[in-house]
Amino acid sequence: MDLFDEQEREAGIHALAPGAALLRGFARDVAPTLLAAVDDIAASAPFRHLLTPGGHTMSVATTSCGTLGWHSDEQGYRYTSRDPDSERRWPAMPACFSALAHDAAARAGFAGFAPDACLINRYAPGARLTLHQDRNERDYGAPIVSVSLGIPAVFLFGGLRRNDPTQKLRLVHGDVVVWGGPSRLRFHGVLPLAHAEHPLTGACRINLTFRAAA
Ligand code: SIN
Ligand code: FE2
Repeated sequence: MDLFDEQEREAGIHALAPGAALLRGFARDVAPTLLAAVDDIAASAPFRHLLTPGGHTMSVATTSCGTLGWHSDEQGYRYTSRDPDSERRWPAMPACFSALAHDAAARAGFAGFAPDACLINRYAPGARLTLHQDRNERDYGAPIVSVSLGIPAVFLFGGLRRNDPTQKLRLVHGDVVVWGGPSRLRFHGVLPLAHAEHPLTGACRINLTFRAAA
């Protein structure tokens, strides 16, 4: 292990690829505040199981906050400024969300990250997310910041082609993964969750992914 690796380890940063890093425990302290904010958001924009363009119901339940929210149906994937279920604007992004996303991005080498969209995913045991790229955003200059809360999951972090080999990362409560720059379009996904319980979330995992979408 060279000096650089050692410094990275001490800072809790694990480089995954150029432009991609795992920040172990980065969100642990603020997690209760984040989860309270998720409850508020879900009270006005409830979690729902969206349809994929192929007509399948997603096993993950989703909602959004920010000026744009992510939506999927038989017409495709896209961002909308209103919740299609209620036709109201998405709940505003809480300050604790934007601050955490900004700071995590900065720690991973992306200064000045100002997300306008946060997709909130809720996984029950058995739920999964197949390998995909995040490519509905207008500008790939900004990274993706992904925050794991609640029960653990195995995150698949692949390459720029669907069939590239994947790294399997066990993400626990408070872990943050950032990918941008040359890694911005890497394929990623989540294996079916094993049953577990977490004191703050019960038998589920909440994932926040922050994007600069507009
Ligand atoms: C996503 O790709 O939108 C979510 C990834 C995760 O749940 O860790
Ligand atoms: Fe994604």
